[in-house]
Amino acid sequence: MRLITCENYAEMSKAAGLMVAGQIALKPNSVLGLATGSTPEGLYAELSRMYANKDLDFSEVKTFNLDEYYPIDRANDQSYYYFMNQHLYSKVNLKAENVHIPNGSAANAEAECVAYDKLIDDNCGIDLQILGIGNNGHIAFNEPAGELSAGTHLVKLTENTIEANSRFFASADDVPRTALTSGMATIMKARKIILMVSGANKREPLAKLLAGKITTDCPVTMLSMHSDVTIIADKAAMGG
Ligand code: F6R
Repeated sequence: MRLITCENYAEMSKAAGLMVAGQIALKPNSVLGLATGSTPEGLYAELSRMYANKDLDFSEVKTFNLDEYYPIDRANDQSYYYFMNQHLYSKVNLKAENVHIPNGSAANAEAECVAYDKLIDDNCGIDLQILGIGNNGHIAFNEPAGELSAGTHLVKLTENTIEANSRFFASADDVPRTALTSGMATIMKARKIILMVSGANKREPLAKLLAGKITTDCPVTMLSMHSDVTIIADKAAMGG
């Protein structure tokens, strides 16, 4: 694992933006794995800025997002589809047919999950996966548990995650209780991973990852087993 320490959130976002831009420059038809949440917002702003400056072209890029609430309509302003559209899709020249997010309004969640993994495989897998961490150590919505799932699956969100994500909703009661999420194998099969970590509330899971012990109680620690992980963390996440 490579560790890049940045002064703050803005620097972290810039560093990640340069790496994603480098990936696209080297392979214009890259398959990117993307995350939602506060962590990658600055990265998406960087990518949008580079596109606006004609430094980046997304016309051949394909994207697969990690997760989506379930059930939720993509037009709902709390859906992850809505978030991605607001922060990236509407800002760059990604083709509509090249962006993918688990379908939060699929009638059959299980069939949707199987189809989603197959679609990633049919596109030859993910070249570069962007990840954030939950303050409980989750990646995507793989929550701390005795067992973790390999493939994309329907998951019950923990109270910790519902509480953390309630900042985007009118109240914690409005946060969906379940989600469709990439599994641990879906993530670990990505050829390269960039883990972005910002803020003091991520110190604990980051420290566990850096300690090099692996436990399903802190799913991000599994990344120790991946051969190409770059962690971009700001000073607050590193402990000041
Ligand atoms: C979102 C995702 C989650 C977030 C995590 C951190 O697609 O996969 O694992 O990365 O919950 O969220 P933020 O960045 O809002 O702190």
